[in-house]
Amino acid sequence: MDYQNILFAVEDGIATITINRPKALNALNQATVSELKDVVEKVAADKAIKVVIITGAGAKSFVAGADIKEMASKNAAEGREWGQFGQNVFTEIENLPQPVIAAINGFALGGGCELSCACDIRYAAENAKFGQPEVGLGITPGFGGTQRLTRVVGRGHAKELIYTGGMIDAEKAKAIGLVNEVFPQEELMPAAVKLAKKIAKNAPIAVQLSKAAINRGINCDVVTGIAYEAEVFGLCFSTADQKEGMAAFCEKRKATFEGK
Ligand code: HXC
Repeated sequence: MDYQNILFAVEDGIATITINRPKALNALNQATVSELKDVVEKVAADKAIKVVIITGAGAKSFVAGADIKEMASKNAAEGREWGQFGQNVFTEIENLPQPVIAAINGFALGGGCELSCACDIRYAAENAKFGQPEVGLGITPGFGGTQRLTRVVGRGHAKELIYTGGMIDAEKAKAIGLVNEVFPQEELMPAAVKLAKKIAKNAPIAVQLSKAAINRGINCDVVTGIAYEAEVFGLCFSTADQKEGMAAFCEKRKATFEGK
């Protein structure tokens, strides 16, 4: 697939997906979400990719939401279908085997905030603004916002954001746990890449199984989650990376992981 609305690059095992509609503040139209689905499926199947970064083109916006102009004339059935399409793609992002870092370089509104919440770790630029403005447009959040934002920041903050439709800045987002760190705009991507490289140095299967255990545990009771953790923990002992990691410790040298 030739991409018109996203950029995709891979360097040193780190894939960067850039939503690239800067004239529309990277709003997500059908074509963009279709391209996102295609690239995410490509990334999922590529064992050479260790970590993924998602960001937006330009200095102003990460993603300013779903494309309102494209959405405006939809009827109920079409609205539902559009919502489910985006939900499914965001779930594919959430379930990518590799960790995903959102580098939020400006507006993260509506579908943009929801996209960031489908990622594992959120880093923000100082100019980032977060919000779920949907109720001001006569709709609810529809790409997972009522569910994932609530799980990230808790019901009180999620309800305040969703019911008011208001925006919060990066510092406030950090204070409520929506972002991990805030950086000056020009330091955002270097910081995201540095984080990605730090993750990529570790045993890939162990990182991916940790992600799977955390994601599964969030959506089930703790007893079930703990049982799953025991399964993945045991599985690690069948990998060459576990042998290498522990041998390296005992031999006082750096481990070299092969993802096997
Ligand atoms: C379509 C958008 C857009 C959007 C911005 N643009 N956001 N187009 N959909 N979500 C376009 C504008 O129309 C404009 O194009 C250009 O981008 C620049 O935007 P401006 O409004 O001129 O910029 P500014 O004055 O700086 O205001 C920035 C802004 C504002 C505060 C982010 O653009 C804004 O409020 N955008 C909408 C944010 C929003 O409500 N998002 C939630 C969408 S609903 P033109 O060509 O007109 O100059 C959603 C639901 C998800 O996300 C679930 C769906 C199922």
